[in-house]
Amino acid sequence: MKLLHVVGARPNFPKLAPVHRAGVRRGVTQVVVHTGQHYDENMSGAFFRDLGIPEPDINLDVGSGSHAVQTARIIERIEPVLLEQRPDWLVVYGDVNSTMAATIVASKLGIRTAHVEAGLRSGDRSMPEEINRLVTDRLADLLLTPSRDADVQLRAEGEPAHEIVFVGNVMIDSLFHALPRAEATGFAARVGADGRHVAVTLHRPSNVDDPERLRLLVRALSTLARERPVIFPAHPRTKARLDALGESLEGVTLLEPIAYPEMLDVVRTAHAVVTDSGGLQEETTALGVPCFTLRPNTERPVTITEGTNQLVQDLAALPALVSAAVRPSAPKRPEGWDGAAGDRVIAALLEARTG
Ligand code: UD1
Repeated sequence: MKLLHVVGARPNFPKLAPVHRAGVRRGVTQVVVHTGQHYDENMSGAFFRDLGIPEPDINLDVGSGSHAVQTARIIERIEPVLLEQRPDWLVVYGDVNSTMAATIVASKLGIRTAHVEAGLRSGDRSMPEEINRLVTDRLADLLLTPSRDADVQLRAEGEPAHEIVFVGNVMIDSLFHALPRAEATGFAARVGADGRHVAVTLHRPSNVDDPERLRLLVRALSTLARERPVIFPAHPRTKARLDALGESLEGVTLLEPIAYPEMLDVVRTAHAVVTDSGGLQEETTALGVPCFTLRPNTERPVTITEGTNQLVQDLAALPALVSAAVRPSAPKRPEGWDGAAGDRVIAALLEARTG
């Protein structure tokens, strides 16, 4: 069996790693295509090394651009690759532009597509990721889901039962795999994290593109920082918006994007996490760290119903909520968040081939 994996942006890389490792164990032929949607060393290259993913076989170097431009470039540049490689399966991950663009091309070429992390929905079409999820799932031939609610969602949308396979959450495979290395980095202590600290990541347009919203965010984080260390590795778009706003994040430790094990070290030891990332909502649930997600909705409801996640829209209320946060004595992990999801992805692909 030959798999062609397409990844492009930072959140894709920890999803690819466990699937690729499981493929190696089962003797599967694998080609990795990086679209180049993220290209900075600390947004991409470092992740490949830290996660033990081999260098991409092919890089499409699409770079930044509007969503239309970026998607169009991926579509144009991946077609000859798929025609030449002719894999048994295109495997795509998550909800980024690369996921949707590759899926559109493969569908028209009659190449079967498997979507890892299928069936997640925020119900919010103002998010570009929601559009990517809808299109990808509608076209993909094998829908590999991370949680049971995703199965229900896909059935409700009319996807046939035989295309839906619950595999669990590959992000948690990467988390468990990297935890010992995360601990060994000693990174959290080096940046002043003391166990009372809050780890922050924010990059969604809805939070950082509106200057009024961003100003309120800066105030809430500065208030928090009067009470405890606040560690904030900022995504490039966030850094650019903060620079443009010109208000100081008083007392907050603002960092460049950091490597995966370093981030895990800051998160696993944190009192709480404040974020708008999808992956962090899952990682905090698996680690039993309270998470405050600054969004009106989430495509990962299981992190609320079974995990430690809470949605917060009122930024004035954030400091008090964070202060009152308590770690659960024993974290409850959703079904299939067990470190073996990558093996189940490969098993599903092998079975679908012969079945
Ligand atoms: C993308 C994903 C999002 C994911 C996020 C995580 C889509 C639709 N969005 O959004 O789902 O949560 O990645 O990181 O695919 N830039 C750099 N260096 C890079 C890459 C980008 O400086 O390596 C800059 C770009 O020039 C741009 C910004 O960062 O200013 C990227 O913003 P955008 O293209 O909107 O995508 P992300 O926010 O990264």
